[in-house]
Amino acid sequence: MCGIVAYLGHRKAHEVVIKGLKRLEYRGYDSAGIALLNNGLNIYKKKGKVSDLEATLKEEELNSHIGIGHTRWATHGEPNDVNAHPHYSATESLAIIHNGIIENYSSLKQELINKGYTFRSDTDSEVLIQFIEDIQINNDCTIDEAVRLALTKVVGAYAIVVMSKNDPDTLIAARKGSPLVVGIGKDEFFLASDATPIVEYTNEVVYLNDYEIAIINKNELQLKNTEDIPSTPYIQTLDLELEAIEKGGYEHFMLKEIFEQPKSIMDCMRGRLNANSGRLVLGGIREYANKLINADRIIIVACGTSWHAGLVAEYFIEEFCRIPVEVEYASEFRYRNPVINEGDVVIAISQSGETADTLAAMELAKSKGAIIFGVCNVVGSSIARASHEGAYTHAGPEIGVASTKAFTAQLTVLNMIALRVAHKKGTITESRYRELLVELETIPSKVEKALKLDDQIKEISEVFKDARNFLYLGRGYNFPVALEGALKLKEISYIHAEGYPAAEMKHGPIALIDEEMPVVCIATRDSSYDKIVSNVQEVKARKGKIIAVVTEGDALIPQMADYVIEVPKTDEALMPMVSVIPLQLLSYHIAVMRNCNVDQPRNLAKSVTVE
Ligand code: AGP
Ligand code: GLU
Repeated sequence: MCGIVAYLGHRKAHEVVIKGLKRLEYRGYDSAGIALLNNGLNIYKKKGKVSDLEATLKEEELNSHIGIGHTRWATHGEPNDVNAHPHYSATESLAIIHNGIIENYSSLKQELINKGYTFRSDTDSEVLIQFIEDIQINNDCTIDEAVRLALTKVVGAYAIVVMSKNDPDTLIAARKGSPLVVGIGKDEFFLASDATPIVEYTNEVVYLNDYEIAIINKNELQLKNTEDIPSTPYIQTLDLELEAIEKGGYEHFMLKEIFEQPKSIMDCMRGRLNANSGRLVLGGIREYANKLINADRIIIVACGTSWHAGLVAEYFIEEFCRIPVEVEYASEFRYRNPVINEGDVVIAISQSGETADTLAAMELAKSKGAIIFGVCNVVGSSIARASHEGAYTHAGPEIGVASTKAFTAQLTVLNMIALRVAHKKGTITESRYRELLVELETIPSKVEKALKLDDQIKEISEVFKDARNFLYLGRGYNFPVALEGALKLKEISYIHAEGYPAAEMKHGPIALIDEEMPVVCIATRDSSYDKIVSNVQEVKARKGKIIAVVTEGDALIPQMADYVIEVPKTDEALMPMVSVIPLQLLSYHIAVMRNCNVDQPRNLAKSVTVE
């Protein structure tokens, strides 16, 4: 998704804004731009990377103390220099940056055209800034009042920052459906799509809520909403450290985050799980805990990798809590007029906490009376704040577009929620409960051991880096892991890959098997082991190239497989956190060998804040 950074204070604005845009590059974009007040209001923007934009600034005399910057992920108008943000108003007195979609931009644009306005770009964002200026002129009002009045007429999602050449010490920001954070420094203010551009300057932040407008001038932050009702800023302290958003010596953020998983899983359990005492406490689930325990049905809404985590949770919750679970693609759920009953509980899973489809799905469920639990990684994110209660995954910032440590952290949280519910409901025996708590505490060390397979997996990657298709097969708890492994490979290496329940092969996909088809079989020793052995034999019989992920010490499957990856033994219900590790590494190394942009794959964004 696009990135927004703005600054007002004593520093050189362009330095803060450009550095901030670079910290947001992981979100995905196609063009970048900046507006500064240096001898007038000047906009510098172009298609391409932030570094390309930076190169064009070298010749400029830049001493502005105020600036706004943007990385665009185009929705209206192709990626080019003209459609890049910021956008001028008609008189070039105002400039805007915008994340989101103005759904009624066509009718607003027609109104303005009828008044004689013309447009430089094809974007909805330019319509908004021209609409704001039209209101300011016709009402002879302040820039913040013009923004407020304009937003009362806007339909859609926005995170915007507006600056005016006639108000050199003022930034106006507003949000609805797209994230925006205000950083409060000493005699300086920051605005950004998330906290990563802010954390090196201050850890005092205000997360804007929907319909809120922030009026920032030299030394004051005021908040009001689009109904002109003022509110007091709720200042929070970030618990984010700078090194958490640096690569730390790794070639890519994705590799760093893969190797952070022993720590991130441990951080997820810290203060919540103590196997020795049988203590399992989730501070974020108290007031509504009984809603979960007594739920007639649990609906999980999520997208992508988070949806795969939901599938694993379905197996776990149904097995131990005996509560029916439905896992829904949020993008489908939000539009199919779903049946939501009084006793239903919704769990929204989202690393970014900003995925538009997931946010909309949970809002729909909420509007129909469901209680919402959020499982998010980004503190203060929209989904976290829109949930009744929930639990953060505490995996730390995940910068690589391909989700890795967030996935295993999500599984950890979901397992803990399910175990707590099952224990309260009495649907799990005390001995099995304690056994799983003890085993859960060993997962970080088992993930650590699985990471030691890195060199072997690199060798396997070398063999298959030019494959054109992959199949990933798994059963039971490992079926969602097969889906996740396939998604990892395709989203960063651009190789087509499909995940399938292993037994489903004979209903069609087995026709794909030949000696050109690498088949990753997740065949760890569990309750369906004998069945997956048969599936592996079916693939072998058709000359498929088998890469088998097995439990260490397995003597049978290695006789059939072409490549064998041995992972540490753990409980079947917890195996996804371990069996996914080699698949993350396999996709990473293949992508690197194919010279793909691992951290910012083409067409993708880290946080999909548009639908
Ligand atoms: C996963 O590697 C992808 N980046 C993508 O599928 C992602 O999981 C999906 O967009 C959901 O994001 P969220 O967890 O932030 O809601
Ligand atoms: N809808 C705006 C455009 O297409 C903003 C897109 C974004 O969020 O980057 O320019």
